[in-house]
Amino acid sequence: MQLRQLGRTGIRVTEACLGAMTFGRETEEADSRAILERYLGAGGNFIDTANVYNVGASEEILGRALGARRDTIVLATKCRMPMGGDPNQKGASRRVIREQVEASLRRLQTEWIDLYQIHCWDAHTPLEETLSTLNDLVREGKVRYIGASNYTGWQLATALGVAREHGWEPYISIQPQYSLVCRDIERELLPLAEYTGLAVLPWSPLGGGLLSGKYQPGEAPAADTRAADTTPSAVLMRMRIQEERNFAVAQAVHDLAAELGKTMAQVALNWVLHRPGVTAPILGARTVAQIDDNLGAIGWQLDADALGRLEDASAIPRGYPYDFIDWIHAR
Ligand SMILES: NC(=O)c1ccc[n+]([C@@H]2O[C@H](COP(=O)([O-])OP(=O)(O)OC[C@H]3O[C@@H](n4cnc5c(N)ncnc54)[C@H](OP(=O)(O)O)[C@@H]3O)[C@@H](O)[C@H]2O)c1
Repeated sequence: MQLRQLGRTGIRVTEACLGAMTFGRETEEADSRAILERYLGAGGNFIDTANVYNVGASEEILGRALGARRDTIVLATKCRMPMGGDPNQKGASRRVIREQVEASLRRLQTEWIDLYQIHCWDAHTPLEETLSTLNDLVREGKVRYIGASNYTGWQLATALGVAREHGWEPYISIQPQYSLVCRDIERELLPLAEYTGLAVLPWSPLGGGLLSGKYQPGEAPAADTRAADTTPSAVLMRMRIQEERNFAVAQAVHDLAAELGKTMAQVALNWVLHRPGVTAPILGARTVAQIDDNLGAIGWQLDADALGRLEDASAIPRGYPYDFIDWIHAR
């Protein structure tokens, strides 16, 4: 796997990150460990998890599985999502961050987290409170770098400005949803990341599995798929398979994959891997066969004709003011 710079930091990460969201949830520990081994065996060095993934179980599995190899891994985790029913067990407050970073360090069996991310914007906590606490964690050596996930453009730009104003550690990365069926970040977050040098770490690069071709319009999802999961955590997946447009994109991926002798997942992931501005997509897998398939997306590149066909199928309207600004620039 090729190495890429993690934003403007001195850290080098592999071009694909391994997501551990399935670990301890739909994937039991032995298979989670096998998925991890396949990724490490392919040369990967970058792993993403969160405190909330199966309420700590994902971090615990990683802590047990990595052992001494932790030193060669760039380990990313997150806080902010609810860890219980108490109103102060969620959010990006000083109290939550302080408690949760200690819990993550314990579960991951490590003395430091390489990239500590705020999982989603928190409208109830002043940015100064969140960012000063994160700055302290870096100063204390518990965390090396900080990142944001699920922020809008103005939220992220404001956070960068507040950090600069106070001389605090800035966010060095953004973790947004990005795939052929979710390209909204091309309007704001990708240009902002390019302008400021932020690393971009796309989540759900297969649209939660939709781009692997396992769903058909109007048909009930098969058992053992994310869309068949009836828990609230799969609500986004169930929404994705209601959208007709997503199946038109999947059809274009299907046709291209058949011509190229690749799987649909490989074509869809290859597109994200080589998008301008992307640092490393986060690969998700429920099974060893899936991670093996997905690792086959690395080491080759879709040509201009293939990219053009995917563009035709998946491009989104620019909208105002982006189209207006483009038009003025073109004159
Ligand atoms: N920051 C955030 O808010 C956020 C949100 C979501 C995810 N993430 C991160 O991003 C990572 C990846 O997200 P994701 O799991 O949604 O990614 P994804 O690649 O879009 O979806 C992965 C899912 O698709 C199915 N799949 C994967 N490879 C397949 C293949 N080759 N053939 C058939 N089905 C396949 C599996 O689900 P089934 O087999 O169950 O159908 C798998 O769990 C997560 O592990 C997590 O680290 C972050």
